[in-house]
Amino acid sequence: MFLLLVLSGCIYGASALNNGLALTPPMGWLSWERFRCEKDCKKFPNSCVDEELYMAMADRMVADGYREAGYEYVHIDDCWAAPQRDENGKLQADPQRFPSGMQALADYLHEKRLKLGIYTDIGYDTCEGLPGSEFYMESDANTFAEWGVDLVKTDGCNADLKEMDISYPAFGFYLNNTGRRMVYGCSWPAAQIVLGKMQPNYASIRQHCNIWRNFLDVQDSWENVKGVFKFYGENKQNFANFSGPGGFSDPDQLLMGDYGLSIYQQKAQFGMWAMMTSPLFMSVDLRTIDPKAKAILLNKNVIAINQDPLGAQGIMLYGISNSLSVWRKPLAVKGSFAIAFLNEDDQGRPMPFSIHLGDIGLTNVNGYNVTNIFDNIHMGYFKPTSTLNVLIDPTSIVIVKAVPL
Ligand SMILES: *[C@@H]1O[C@H](CO)[C@@H](O)[C@H](O)[C@H]1NC(C)=O
Ligand SMILES: *[C@@H]1O[C@H](CO)[C@@H](O)[C@H](O)[C@H]1NC(C)=O
Ligand SMILES: *[C@@H]1O[C@H](CO)[C@@H](O)[C@H](O)[C@H]1NC(C)=O
Repeated sequence: MFLLLVLSGCIYGASALNNGLALTPPMGWLSWERFRCEKDCKKFPNSCVDEELYMAMADRMVADGYREAGYEYVHIDDCWAAPQRDENGKLQADPQRFPSGMQALADYLHEKRLKLGIYTDIGYDTCEGLPGSEFYMESDANTFAEWGVDLVKTDGCNADLKEMDISYPAFGFYLNNTGRRMVYGCSWPAAQIVLGKMQPNYASIRQHCNIWRNFLDVQDSWENVKGVFKFYGENKQNFANFSGPGGFSDPDQLLMGDYGLSIYQQKAQFGMWAMMTSPLFMSVDLRTIDPKAKAILLNKNVIAINQDPLGAQGIMLYGISNSLSVWRKPLAVKGSFAIAFLNEDDQGRPMPFSIHLGDIGLTNVNGYNVTNIFDNIHMGYFKPTSTLNVLIDPTSIVIVKAVPL
């Protein structure tokens, strides 16, 4: 127990959901950001939400090295379900778009050593107006278990915000009762903060959910991603305190390879998701992804920062509005840290920045071995008083790892 608390990196020792899952942030591919709710497969055969799409992404994940890099969940979002439950009240997949059925899709993924994520809603309807789990929690949990689902994202549309303190734990109870271990994703705090301006009960959220959304959906623009950095940097609700093995803050999907971010901004998003110990869900067409975007997603060093077993969420130490911010994430190797220098400025030249490690709490007298993580460049050995110089591209990031000597 002591070990667990120390490892959790979670100051208040709030206990995590005890299902043995999400000991590090889950990684995979999620359809929503890129593919949304397209149901017209005649008109858009390659980009509608159907079983072919998920199978095609699974094939790419195996063939192109994503699975080996750690991406394992193939995650369906809203719009998979038929508009009506069956005569027994059971959820059913849309028969035109998922003719083989969900269980067949789960089997397909499991044979490839991948996992299936699915979507429901804690309210009466999903955000897109399909059946939600409100009055069917036990039945839906059982259905998901029977199909072989491995992760359940549970959205927060069309639901009473105050009741979420009871409804999310209740659905978690039924998921647990199935005996099948399923990662439980909750939109509980996001709905309460965004829609209700409420202060969520994070101790309870950590106890009942494996991942939790705190904020709005990510959209495909730098403006939007900067808004996420700001929200997480301010950390007004202190949610960073509650991240640790078994439960993590989820700032939503990655935009590598999509339309809105430059390659430099994609580095910034991926790097910051690593620093914030966020689930890593790509949302891109893996059949046509740009090689530079792919290289970001497969960057082993950055993934290792995200997947560090301590599981602590990095926090912003200080920020200058619309310009530079410095973030720090403690790592499992005692006394070591990842430090991010995020440059939100769009001035057309790389920004030089200098810092003493001692000024950001790295005070080991023997100094540190410092490596630039993204580019895998050994920067050298630094005492707390010696100057570390970095050069940060416009709207991009530099991340260093500092290991005590
Ligand atoms: C259900 O909860 C119990 C108690 O926390 C835990 O030991 C068990 O592993 C959980 N089982 C599943 C399938 O999540
Ligand atoms: C969160 O942790 C910080 C220290 O990192 C502490 O100052 C703060 O009081 C904590 N707040 C809550 C509500 O947990
Ligand atoms: C410092 O880090 C580099 C990797 O960037 C590694 O090759 C080197 O062995 C490390 N030095 C020490 C003394 O650990």
